Amino acid sequence: MGNQFLTKVKLMRYEQKMITTIQKSLEIENLSVELDHKLILDNISLSLPHPVFAAIMGPNGAGKTTLLKTILGIIKPTSGKVHLFGKDVLGNPTEARKLVGYVPQRDRIVRYVPLKVTDVVLMGLVSRKEIPRIAINKDMNLSLEALKYVGMSEYASELFSNLSGGQQQRVLIARALVSKPKILLLDEPFNAVDASAQTFIAELLNRLKNENKISVLLVSHDINMVVEYIDILMFLNKKMIAMGKAHEIFRDDILKMVYGEGVRVITEKGRCYALTGDTHG
Ligand SMILES: Nc1ncnc2c1ncn2[C@@H]1O[C@H](COP(=O)(O)OP(=O)(O)OP(=O)(O)O)[C@@H](O)[C@H]1O
Ligand SMILES: [Mg+2]
Repeated sequence: MGNQFLTKVKLMRYEQKMITTIQKSLEIENLSVELDHKLILDNISLSLPHPVFAAIMGPNGAGKTTLLKTILGIIKPTSGKVHLFGKDVLGNPTEARKLVGYVPQRDRIVRYVPLKVTDVVLMGLVSRKEIPRIAINKDMNLSLEALKYVGMSEYASELFSNLSGGQQQRVLIARALVSKPKILLLDEPFNAVDASAQTFIAELLNRLKNENKISVLLVSHDINMVVEYIDILMFLNKKMIAMGKAHEIFRDDILKMVYGEGVRVITEKGRCYALTGDTHG
């Protein structure tokens, strides 16, 4: 009896220790965002461990990009809290910003800028410096290292605008990684990227999580290329509709709540496809 009690106490202490030592990459509490007097995000709460591979899905206009920009501190919420690794994004934006890398939605950025690939990556360091923003040798070395990581070293001197969609995306990932973030946010990284580049990027992101212990949070209309890597999938449509393991929440009834009645789920060779009228091409 006595021994059993002691074992139980030890177990409880162990569990308590585990709970207090689990690091959170992102914590969001009761977050609401209004833009132009319209409610875009409604009372979102979530908590992600570290390192994590997480994905957000939802229809056009669901607020996915708005959520990423709020995590980055670019958009100010109407109410709620956002913490990155315990740092308050709203109260201490400079400290929080150091921890995060961002790959924006590619159709929203200028793809045709006449910049060399290395200059695009350098922007990831230089844009964080005080004025005058001058790159030093160390910055160039870090940029070349980041290009190597995404397998784009041989294109370092090319013009960014001459690259294919998949190659541009890899360079933009290098730009986000060059400042050595602890969490990487990616907005539609597979959009307008061919199938082999999609697989390359998916494997790269999984390596980032497993080998470099960088958390990954991506927004995508299609998650088939990453479904085996995802720890947590979220369905967003103004509200957080569902959150959990992909195979648990990729269900007809939940998808109808997210995308409406028009959705059809097709399962083929163990992969799930949600057919909607909603694509980015
Ligand atoms: N700056 C803004 N001012 C006013 N409304 C905005 C602004 N930015 C976005 N919105 C609106 O907020 C809603 C959510 O937009 P958001 O870009 O976050 O959606 P999304 O889920 O990323 O969509 P998509 O799949 O098309 O990228 C949309 O209705 C959009 O029109
Ligand atoms: Mg978007």
